Amino acid sequence: MDGRPKVLISRSIPQAALEIVARECQVEVNERDVRLTQEELIERLLEKEGLLCLLTDRVDAAVLAAAPRLRVVANVAVGYDNIDVAEASRRGILVTHTPGVLTETTADLTWALLLAVARRVVEADRYVRSGQWREWGLQLLLGSDVHGKVLGILGFGRIGQAVARRGMGFGMQNLYHSRRRASPEVEAALKARYVDPETLLREADFVSLHLPLTPETTHFLTAREFSWMKPTAYLINTARGPIIREEDLVEALRMGRIAGAGLDVYEREPTLAPGLTDLPNVVLAPHIGSSSVETRTRMAVMAAENLTAALAGRRPPNPVNPEIP
Ligand code: NAP
Ligand code: GLV
Repeated sequence: MDGRPKVLISRSIPQAALEIVARECQVEVNERDVRLTQEELIERLLEKEGLLCLLTDRVDAAVLAAAPRLRVVANVAVGYDNIDVAEASRRGILVTHTPGVLTETTADLTWALLLAVARRVVEADRYVRSGQWREWGLQLLLGSDVHGKVLGILGFGRIGQAVARRGMGFGMQNLYHSRRRASPEVEAALKARYVDPETLLREADFVSLHLPLTPETTHFLTAREFSWMKPTAYLINTARGPIIREEDLVEALRMGRIAGAGLDVYEREPTLAPGLTDLPNVVLAPHIGSSSVETRTRMAVMAAENLTAALAGRRPPNPVNPEIP
């Protein structure tokens, strides 16, 4: 009889990660690359001791209650707002995530959106493809400069700081706000000035969000905050959708209260707020911040190592609730 722990992998994952889990566990994989419903997740978790899941899986109190043998939930993401961590802790279940390995890749995508919306790259691509381009024009598709502008970073952790480094390369002035002020060494290295959120929103030409989604950061930006921003300012969100009240953003963009937005994440993914796709001054990506071959593989391998370590009674390298023995 196979005494290895039974685990569920909720969606297909890279082979390298699958092999790590399969060496030590009895694996059931949802081979369809489609999210399991809550009912399917509950049904499949019944006998399982481990779950390797994606951020599209909602591991809520009902799911945890229905999995009496569960010992670890390994998320293939750095954000873990899809998991009820308090409930998992109450039940003695370890939760792990994938910090660090996706930092630079997500900062790159942030920068891609920032440049794309400021320099109207997507509009320009459509213009050329549709055959509208007749000749060079002095005022054709005028955008905004990026270099030398003020970059405001909300959430100055791993990704926020990686974005600030890119800002330095563009000769930008970095402002930031975070729960805790960074050390003088970090501030000096990134030439970053700590300000309160209102000052950041009033002074920045580009506002980039890098906060985790928590009760405190939900709807951090609403109509009131957009009214503080410059009408020439751009908003970039590669953090989590519900940090912004999306209907208010659509209204601010439609009324020209801000100049544009580059979005990778949405309040009710994959549903978008009405009117968002009608706006010319937005660049929209389908939550691909960490989506490079290298990084998605590293994330899955990291999650697999977290899962197998926890099930073997070793400390997983990346616990979210390290207080669980
Ligand atoms: P991180 O290193 O933990 O950085 C988050 C920062 O936000 C920390 O400095 C934290 O401060 C600060 N913060 C937390 N709550 C705050 C509040 N209420 N007010 C002000 N600052 C607050 O996380 P990360 O690795 O940079 O990732 C950030 C987020 O990006 C993730 O949580 C995830 O949701 C998102 N993400 C998205 C993608 C994508 O595909 N689009 C990819 C990766 C990550 P403390 O240090 O005091 O906690
Ligand atoms: C992606 O959104 C992540 O949190 O890793």
